[in-house]
Amino acid sequence: MIEARNVKKYFGGKAAVAGISFSVRKGEVLGFLGPNGAGKSTTMRMITGFLPLSEGTVTIDGCDIEEKPVEAKRLFGYLPENAPAYQEMTVSGFLKFSASIRGLSGEAGENAIARAVKLCHLEKVLNQTIDTLSKGYHHRVCFAQAILHDPPVLILDEPTDGLDPNQKHEMRELIREMGRTKAIIVSTHILEEVEAICTRVIIIDRGELVFNGTPRELRARAPQGERLLVTLLGVDGDGARAALEALPQVRRVEILGREGESLSLALHPSGRQENFALTIKKALDERSWQFSELHTESGRLDEVFRSLTTSDSTGRKEGAA
Ligand SMILES: Nc1ncnc2c1ncn2[C@@H]1O[C@H](COP(=O)(O)OP(=O)(O)OP(=O)(O)O)[C@@H](O)[C@H]1O
Ligand SMILES: [Mg+2]
Repeated sequence: MIEARNVKKYFGGKAAVAGISFSVRKGEVLGFLGPNGAGKSTTMRMITGFLPLSEGTVTIDGCDIEEKPVEAKRLFGYLPENAPAYQEMTVSGFLKFSASIRGLSGEAGENAIARAVKLCHLEKVLNQTIDTLSKGYHHRVCFAQAILHDPPVLILDEPTDGLDPNQKHEMRELIREMGRTKAIIVSTHILEEVEAICTRVIIIDRGELVFNGTPRELRARAPQGERLLVTLLGVDGDGARAALEALPQVRRVEILGREGESLSLALHPSGRQENFALTIKKALDERSWQFSELHTESGRLDEVFRSLTTSDSTGRKEGAA
């Protein structure tokens, strides 16, 4: 549904987007990640035809965004980063106006508005002017505008930014649900969100694509890898560490902290092991060591993100790639 080929954008000779290619199919929710200034919003503006491309091509369901902008724009809804809305209009007036520019009038328009109002929970603010809305509601009005015409493609720039936790949860559910039948691109800085809603992730750093894969593949890139968190009760820290490190399955034991009788440890396996947690549990049982916690922590997304990107797009690389 979305095909971006070698997309580039120069601002005053400097490449903000340095030639990236990707595609999104129906039924996919593509997560767009990257540090501030990486080029996410710029890429989204180009895909949606709000910014001309310096080089490359973008097609939406086969329609070239620069050659057939009107046809292409019918096919998607766009939630921009600083979503503009006419401040002096009421929410209901703005949605009617948005429906009319989408060519939805009469009953079709009313039905489209009713559906969007329901999905975005805007019932309470319909008669309020947009400039009096809280940030979260403002955002929801803009989202409602993007989905009014029920387009097959959605391009959402930080759709959960500024929403309260309940609304974030609902918005994610909505995106996931819509993702079954649409092609969606979502940018976000919340790494957990990627796992919650995205079927695929790309990471952009300084205008270049540095990762394209599933959330699971992303996690597998964690430099730390998987570890087992164990909280032992009433044991000596150094003794426990030495005993556990003596096991051939254990590469390293970190002492994370002690609180009263509880000793928290992180155990790193030597190589990939299917039954690491079980092996450790047996070792603890053999010694009659009691534990209050034993769980596997898979690779951390923030570590992967740091290892793949720079601290910001003008900064230096922080971690090892
Ligand atoms: N109109 C413009 N003129 C000049 N430079 C621009 C313009 N728009 C964006 N840039 C620059 O392009 C780069 C990419 O910006 P962009 O907004 O795409 O980043 P982003 O990945 O969306 O970041 P954020 O996470 O902060 O939203 C930045 O260095 C930005 O300053
Ligand atoms: Mg942005």
